[in-house]
Amino acid sequence: MIILETGRLRLRAWIETDRELFAEINSDPAVMEFFPFRRTRAEADALFDRNNRNIRETGFGFFALAFRENDAPIGFCGLARTDLEPHLPDGTVEIGWRLALRHWGKGYVTEAARALLDYGFSERKLGEIVAIAVPANTRSTAVMTRIGMRPDSKRDFDHSGVPDTHPHLRRHVLYATTAEEWRRDGSAAKR
Ligand SMILES: CC(C)(COP(=O)(O)OP(=O)(O)OC[C@H]1O[C@@H](n2cnc3c(N)ncnc32)[C@H](O)[C@@H]1OP(=O)(O)O)[C@@H](O)C(=O)NCCC(=O)NCCS
Repeated sequence: MIILETGRLRLRAWIETDRELFAEINSDPAVMEFFPFRRTRAEADALFDRNNRNIRETGFGFFALAFRENDAPIGFCGLARTDLEPHLPDGTVEIGWRLALRHWGKGYVTEAARALLDYGFSERKLGEIVAIAVPANTRSTAVMTRIGMRPDSKRDFDHSGVPDTHPHLRRHVLYATTAEEWRRDGSAAKR
């Protein structure tokens, strides 16, 4: 199930041979720096199954991001329904990403995320897409800015799911873009 393709990349449902990469990006301390948990292999496998079921049933979720030329997975980039009541109302859709460390610094997520915003607004008819991050995660907020999302600080929040052991990871900033903004400014953000 292919969601979309760009010049270098493909977004698709996950396949069995992706499990290794999925486990890696859920356990590597560098990749998981801004998350309060690391997944064991069993936890990563369970999440893999749940996420993929969701993708196949609803078309939403964190899609596998793979090279177009050989289909090798490098991380994920997706559109997912948030589960963050009371911080964000049900029905909110977020764009999110995670790459294996060796693939950072090549522009892959920016390339995939731009195409995904376009897909979300044109194909899925979404009204708004948000993105959230811990403020110190500047690589992630830089992607948000590059793809034309704007900070909406009135909606920043303290994530109630972050345990007391990690108070510095509680604050989250929210960036957003609407279908109208994307139609108006999207082509400018691509430059
Ligand atoms: C967030 C994350 C996906 C960003 O990865 P990234 O590689 O910095 O982002 P991009 O793919 O957009 O690449 C941009 C970088 O590639 C460089 N680049 C190289 N070739 C490029 C190209 N052809 N086009 C665009 N940028 C290119 C850019 O200059 C930029 O590098 P810089 O940050 O040193 O200036 C990555 O850091 C990650 O997986 N982090 C861990 C998981 C995580 O925190 N996820 C977000 C939770 S909110």
